[in-house]
Amino acid sequence: MSVIAIYPGTFDPITNGHIDILERASGLFEKIIVTVANNPSKTPLFTDDERLVMIRESINHIPNTEAVMFSGLVVDFAIKTGAKAIIRGLRALSDFEYEFQMALMNHKLAPEVRTVFLMPNEKYTYLNSSLIRQLAQFNADVTEFVPDCVLQALTQKFGH
Ligand code: COA
Repeated sequence: MSVIAIYPGTFDPITNGHIDILERASGLFEKIIVTVANNPSKTPLFTDDERLVMIRESINHIPNTEAVMFSGLVVDFAIKTGAKAIIRGLRALSDFEYEFQMALMNHKLAPEVRTVFLMPNEKYTYLNSSLIRQLAQFNADVTEFVPDCVLQALTQKFGH
């Protein structure tokens, strides 16, 4: 049975932690749609297009993945695309409450769409995009945490 999954996030920017989850998920699903959300509670550093370009370049080594923008509810996008799974990365205990709440609400909204949690490599468990943006802003070396295209975009964005 071939299952399509979506991997929603703001990806501002995509990091090696996100890519690690995608590489793990790519063996489990027929297709994964990286779904770049307009998170109502965030003002991204990178534009929609900038984020999309970085994601596409960062995942082009993973054959069954693609990236699209979307706005609205994640479950609505899942139903629209025929996705039966929402992939979420569970990093530390601190993620659990928020993920638990979203998973239960999404299940209430669309019982046929399942949330699938994957654990990232331990070296990325403390990573998030805000931290990367902050480190890059103050010229810290983030080479080990982001793909080259993101490193270049951060360098350009902060004029280092
Ligand atoms: N490696 C590294 N960082 C990771 C990660 C991983 N495996 N998984 C998550 N993160 C980071 C993200 O980069 C993000 O960092 P930031 O907040 O510093 O930018 C942080 O952890 C939180 O990630 P996430 O929960 O995916 O937040 P998000 O803003 O990237 O995406 C949506 C949240 C898009 C899933 C959520 O806003 C959403 O669903 N929006 C649409 C409306 C909707 O359906 N709401 C839910 C109703 S139940």
